[in-house]
Amino acid sequence: MGQARGNSYWRQAHLAGVVIAFAVPLQAGAQATIAELAWAYAISPAGPTIEEDGTLHTLPGSDRSFTRTQIRNFFGPADWYPGDHPEMPEIVAQGREPAGIWACSMCHYPNGQGRPENAGVAGLPKEYFVQQMHDLRDGLRGSAQTLKANTLLMAGFAKAMTDQEIEQAAEYFGSMSWRPWIEVVETDTVPKTRIQGGMHLKLEGAEAGMEPIGQRIVESPIDAEHTEVLRNPRSGFVAYVPVGAIAKGAALAEGGDGKTIQCSICHGENLVGLAAVPPLRGRSPSYLARQLIDMQLGSRNGLWAPLMAAVVENLTAEDMLNLSAYLASLPPDPQ
Ligand code: HEC
Ligand code: HEC
Repeated sequence: MGQARGNSYWRQAHLAGVVIAFAVPLQAGAQATIAELAWAYAISPAGPTIEEDGTLHTLPGSDRSFTRTQIRNFFGPADWYPGDHPEMPEIVAQGREPAGIWACSMCHYPNGQGRPENAGVAGLPKEYFVQQMHDLRDGLRGSAQTLKANTLLMAGFAKAMTDQEIEQAAEYFGSMSWRPWIEVVETDTVPKTRIQGGMHLKLEGAEAGMEPIGQRIVESPIDAEHTEVLRNPRSGFVAYVPVGAIAKGAALAEGGDGKTIQCSICHGENLVGLAAVPPLRGRSPSYLARQLIDMQLGSRNGLWAPLMAAVVENLTAEDMLNLSAYLASLPPDPQ
């Protein structure tokens, strides 16, 4: 039943995306294209199909058990490890059902670590967090890929939230630190994957095998069952990146001989964030690349986005890939 509802949300949001796609003219003179960064969007025609099997599932180190339907209840998803985080405000734990606001913890997890198809929200400066919610609410921040259904949902939640709920969520997620979550591996070949629900899942059985990575980052759950079915907030991701990407990204982060602007000027020494400017270390490379192209194509154009304009102006899709690989490879704690 939860499943039927989940699928119709995806379908509706996809339809909305198709309509918008025809209404928005293509940007002229863009440096990177959505098609080149298809790996970062991982758009698939349908959301996950996870059947209720009636079993109570458990996870190591948790004394709780949940059915599949409970695990992905939009208005109160499983909280496997309550000891891993402070007490959640209602908007984070349950959302607000009459207003159609899903629990933030459904997509971003109770610990705010999030998944490649959404965002890591733990450890963001409160002021930055609030500003993003306002930009989403005011239609200034959206995805350049108009088929990205969950970003449309996210903007809808921001529109429906009260200022107090936004404050509470910002306070809550900002109170936790960002933890190591993505292992970045340079490689020429990657496991073959299929796209589902905004991420890359390794193929199994007869379909499994290796293929050249090409100009892609392939970010995939370390344990597909734990991520897809159980939504285990302690089970992270691996990001395969092309050989040499990290060093090229590091050079760009220093300014790339004038191609861009040194990131640490605004994001702080070691890129741990500076006042309201967000931290960049160890975050999902798929997420980071989407932000860079969203800012270049103008679909992310909130109050503070102009500060990033000169940074992204001349970046190619390959530059965005390299920068994202580099930033993701940095351990969250610079020590
Ligand atoms: C349907 C899944 C979903 C739910 C539920 C959800 N979000 Fe999001 N959130 C997203 C997506 C998708 C993005 C943007 C990803 C992108 O732009 O590529 C996002 C982005 C964000 C960001 C921006 C992060 C950054 O670094 O700029 C914030 C803040 C945020 N969400 C807060 C919330 C809050 C607060 C709630 C609860 C009311 C919530 N989200 C519920 C999917 C979700
Ligand atoms: C002149 C200041 C400035 C410089 C230099 C700068 N940034 Fe930013 N950056 C910002 C601000 C301000 C924001 C928040 C934008 C917003 O609110 O939409 C931001 C946001 C971002 C985001 C989105 C983060 C998130 O959580 O969504 C990414 C990714 C990013 N910057 C990457 C970079 C990279 C990579 C560099 C260096 C190549 C860089 N920035 C250089 C000011 C700067």
